[in-house]
Amino acid sequence: MRLLLHIILLGSVTPFKFLAYSPQLAKSHVNFLGKISDVLIEAGHEVVILSPLLDSSLGFAGSKKARVIEVPQCTEARAYEEFMQNSNAANAWTKGDSLQAFFEWGNLTYSWVAQCNATIAHPGLLESLREEKFDVAFAEMIDFCAPGLFHLLGIEKWVITDSLAINDAHFFYTHTPSNPAYVPTMMGGSMGEEMSFSERFDNLLTFCFSKWFNEYFFPVYDEMFRTHDREIPSVEELFGTNSLVFTNSEPLVDFPRPSSARMIDIGGIVTSTGHKQMDADRISEGIPNLVETTWAPQSDLLHDPRISAFITHCGQGSITEAIDAGVPLIVVPIAYDQLRNAQQVKRNGHGIMLEKTELENPEKLRNAVKEVLENPSYHEKALKIKLMLEDRPFAMKEIFIRNMEFLAKYGPLRQLGHYGRKLNFFQYYLIDVIAAVLGVALVILIIAFFLVISVVRLLKRILGIKKVKAD
Ligand SMILES: *[C@@H]1O[C@H](CO)[C@@H](O)[C@H](O)[C@H]1NC(C)=O
Ligand SMILES: *[C@@H]1O[C@H](CO)[C@@H](O)[C@H](O)[C@H]1NC(C)=O
Repeated sequence: MRLLLHIILLGSVTPFKFLAYSPQLAKSHVNFLGKISDVLIEAGHEVVILSPLLDSSLGFAGSKKARVIEVPQCTEARAYEEFMQNSNAANAWTKGDSLQAFFEWGNLTYSWVAQCNATIAHPGLLESLREEKFDVAFAEMIDFCAPGLFHLLGIEKWVITDSLAINDAHFFYTHTPSNPAYVPTMMGGSMGEEMSFSERFDNLLTFCFSKWFNEYFFPVYDEMFRTHDREIPSVEELFGTNSLVFTNSEPLVDFPRPSSARMIDIGGIVTSTGHKQMDADRISEGIPNLVETTWAPQSDLLHDPRISAFITHCGQGSITEAIDAGVPLIVVPIAYDQLRNAQQVKRNGHGIMLEKTELENPEKLRNAVKEVLENPSYHEKALKIKLMLEDRPFAMKEIFIRNMEFLAKYGPLRQLGHYGRKLNFFQYYLIDVIAAVLGVALVILIIAFFLVISVVRLLKRILGIKKVKAD
């Protein structure tokens, strides 16, 4: 009877088998992939997480429900771990806002390529994964191992599941152009949608730089992949063969941007994040009303009605949790996407933003806290956003599950790829057509000009002759 009930309950869906590629590169990314794997498992599907160890200190593949296949850390990845554990955190407060990050990360990409290589070369791994016969695979596009790996596994139906709200350069490979004139880029620094000329210049520069950064590393991956399969298409080509792109963006709070049917926003799908014990800093010594802890259940704390405000570095996870709990914010973005998230908070009016350098002046922080506590508008806005998102017409989990099931049944969804990707720069931006129209307009103007001159000359001559005759 129980079994029958179980079958009836699950009866509405055929269980599918998913492969998640989730290298252990940073906590928030691993958590996101783990949590969306859990969402699929809770819906009755099977998920296997392939989890190469880039930073072995994370020690968690993000999910307790999924079957996890770990791939041991290769020698080159230790440099990456070293960077993440030391320099990255140490530089956070002094780091400049935008382009500097690219140069730091550039160096690390080589360890990602090496770990990807080690994963492919891991004895028996590819064979056993092929035997699993996965319906659909998913991965983030932080490192570019997945498109080639899925190709080697013969998985045609695959999607991008970004833990970030936007990935600047990816628009080129996901068939969905963005517009840096009014969409703030992820790495663009501290600007909102309303940009001055120089901010638009900066934003465009970061946008292009993200693209060049990727394209610089594609050949490095290509070369590595070719040592395993000489016929493999380029990473750039494979990148574009995804069927859907799920972004961790909630359109009701994010900056509006151009989109397409293949891009599906599931921001807010994941709230509570994983736990990692921190080292004690002892910054609270001698301060009686400051509680310092090496671990805290953030989401639970935010839902405590005694919480009046939340001071945060503005990571995607923290913002999602604060919105979910309806708590007003004081945000102090440190680096990366946090600056963009902070501008979002400012735009939506549920918090105050401080620059990290402003913390030098305690008065600024005190004023910000006072303002958020005393001016009811922040709390009212936070509450309104919370209620609105709870009441949104379709739940993000449902959207994710149904689209993944649909893809498993009918994918790959090649019809969603637009022809724009095949056009060159001049064709894409219609520069050739605009130039032709301007050219014709110019010719017409020139002809009109000479025509007018000739008519004037003719008239002058006729009038002149008349004048002479009259004389
Ligand atoms: C970049 O790599 C070189 C050599 O591998 C290393 O000496 C240097 O410290 C790295 N730079 C950063 C910012 O990690
Ligand atoms: C990839 O791994 C193989 C075998 O471990 C090694 O021989 C080769 O040099 C590696 N290639 C790259 C590009 O790291």
